[in-house]
Amino acid sequence: MLKILMIGDTYGDPGLKAVELFVGRMKKSGEADFVVCNAENAAGGAGITESIARDLFRIGCDVLTCGDHVFDRKKEIEDFMQKETRVLRPANFPKAAPGVGSCVVESKGIKVGVIHVAGQVFMRFHFTSPFHAVDEEIEKVKKQGASVIVVDMHAEATSEKTAISWYLDGRVAAVVGTHTHVQTADDRVSGKGTACLTDLGMTGPYDSVIGAEKESIIRRFLTQIHTKKEVARNDVRFSGALVTVDERTGRATAIERVHKKLQ
Ligand SMILES: [Fe+2]
Ligand SMILES: [Fe+2]
Repeated sequence: MLKILMIGDTYGDPGLKAVELFVGRMKKSGEADFVVCNAENAAGGAGITESIARDLFRIGCDVLTCGDHVFDRKKEIEDFMQKETRVLRPANFPKAAPGVGSCVVESKGIKVGVIHVAGQVFMRFHFTSPFHAVDEEIEKVKKQGASVIVVDMHAEATSEKTAISWYLDGRVAAVVGTHTHVQTADDRVSGKGTACLTDLGMTGPYDSVIGAEKESIIRRFLTQIHTKKEVARNDVRFSGALVTVDERTGRATAIERVHKKLQ
């Protein structure tokens, strides 16, 4: 059995600290073999940089996914993404964008394909269809020998994330959602062995508005004046899901929500 830990949107330094603590602990104890971490908000709440990506790999993350914020710190990640294919951007970004939307990484002799797509509903960018994009990426990772496939569907709408999980039913081990920063309670494994959780939730400070200092966000709503967001500090939690996969069949046998307070 392969234990795949999928971590939700990691927000700023507090989120990174939680990832360091829990990934280290869970890999050491054998609770997690393979770690996929969503890091679109890792750099001060918006974007990711090369040095943060390197730190996350050093800590024990195997693949990093991002989302709509992937290029917020474009200068500090673009070049790295050209050479490091384990940092993914949504596959359905325009083809001209740097980076790739899937990769295959080996763990315990098993080739794991990780696919990253973004939703179209209520998103700030005009992504192409994630349904069509995910089909293409499945073919790509299979050609590279992946026998276990997991998908991070970065989207706002629960309906779109649920729909894609059923669209992929029996074809991948897991479809998990990111982007809303709030964990859902709809974890399930289908009869065909596809695990789903429509949002993994945020790894970061919860005394906040989805990661940012709450006062500045409330002021934005009151005044409609755009002010700089600051990363909140308190009530740090680690949020995601642990998926157990039978590597002989590529099917999930269990999914467990993970939501822990930083002690
Ligand atoms: Fe996010
Ligand atoms: Fe996002």
